[in-house]
Amino acid sequence: MNILGIETSCDETAAAVVRASRDVLSNVVASQADLHAVFGGVVPEIASRRHAELASAVVEQACREAGIALADADVIAVTHGPGLIGSLLVGVSAAKGYAYGLRKPLVAVNHVEAHVYANSLPPGPGAEPPSIDYPAVCLVASGGHSDVVLIRQPGTYQILGWTRDDAAGEALDKVARLLGLGWPGGPAIERAAERGDPKAFGFARVWLDDSFDFSFSGLKTAAARTWNAIPEDERAHRVADLSASFQAAIVDALVSHTVAAARWAGATALLLSGGVAANRALRLQMATAATEIEASFHCPLPTLCTDNAAMVAAAGYHVLERRGPDGLDVDTFSSLPLADHI
Ligand code: KG4
Ligand code: ZN
Repeated sequence: MNILGIETSCDETAAAVVRASRDVLSNVVASQADLHAVFGGVVPEIASRRHAELASAVVEQACREAGIALADADVIAVTHGPGLIGSLLVGVSAAKGYAYGLRKPLVAVNHVEAHVYANSLPPGPGAEPPSIDYPAVCLVASGGHSDVVLIRQPGTYQILGWTRDDAAGEALDKVARLLGLGWPGGPAIERAAERGDPKAFGFARVWLDDSFDFSFSGLKTAAARTWNAIPEDERAHRVADLSASFQAAIVDALVSHTVAAARWAGATALLLSGGVAANRALRLQMATAATEIEASFHCPLPTLCTDNAAMVAAAGYHVLERRGPDGLDVDTFSSLPLADHI
């Protein structure tokens, strides 16, 4: 079964062909980062216009690279939320057009669930898909989410923790902008941090009482205060240390909360996903923590952590199996919780 996945929830126009949720035949991502970088963040109207310009070309390229004709797609899977509403509408409208024109089933996918399913894809070309033991706990850390998700069985979700303010990626993006490192901020901070000392600045690690929830806004304000207190002529020498210290504080918070939640839930597997999961320090620290709690550790390839359509196709396969196709009247949602917070 060939699943054509389409993803346009934010600023990546993406299409992919995945065979039966395990073989990634193609994975095309047209990034709009250059268009938004001058504004220091995603401009919704520019994003949706660009999706409209690129969507069909990206789908055609995904089919070409997969070596299939568009008519050979058996299912059309598309992200229908959460995300920027104008951007989502472009992808969902395109998917409806393909489904109607090709007379193929349409399946609408939650973007956060798609990030979770990135973990079901093989960790490299020709590799076997990972075998995940349940219950599992997955951290989805991106520009819009910092969710600690308990998965007792595939397809059943409970949120054990989320962010009370900024998402981890959002905090990285904002601090990178303050430091003049450009956008997107996560990779920029990671690059600057390589030359810095993570202990140079002692940022507090915050725990909210009786909760696995995150709060990153205090940390972001502390980073801004620290930066503003550094004389301007010394800043160029301190940017690496501040990046390393800030990244370490974010990674510590993400790992400690996820591991505490995994212990509480008796999870046998730890999963990582979302754009921030491309971060090497986070991947390494989470892998070490998983060993300490005797859980297996899974993390998608970095290209499958940031927004892509292969994860949408993989999730689409499982969602279709679970609850059947959607009608052509399926809606788009800027907010679409994956599950309740317990
Ligand atoms: O999942 P994603 O591509 O889009 C959303 O669903 O939001 O995540 C984007 C976020 C951005 O905040 C970006 O700065 C962050 O992921 N990010 C990273 C890295 N690559 C992307 N953060 C830390 N280290 C990275 N290498
Ligand atoms: Zn995402």
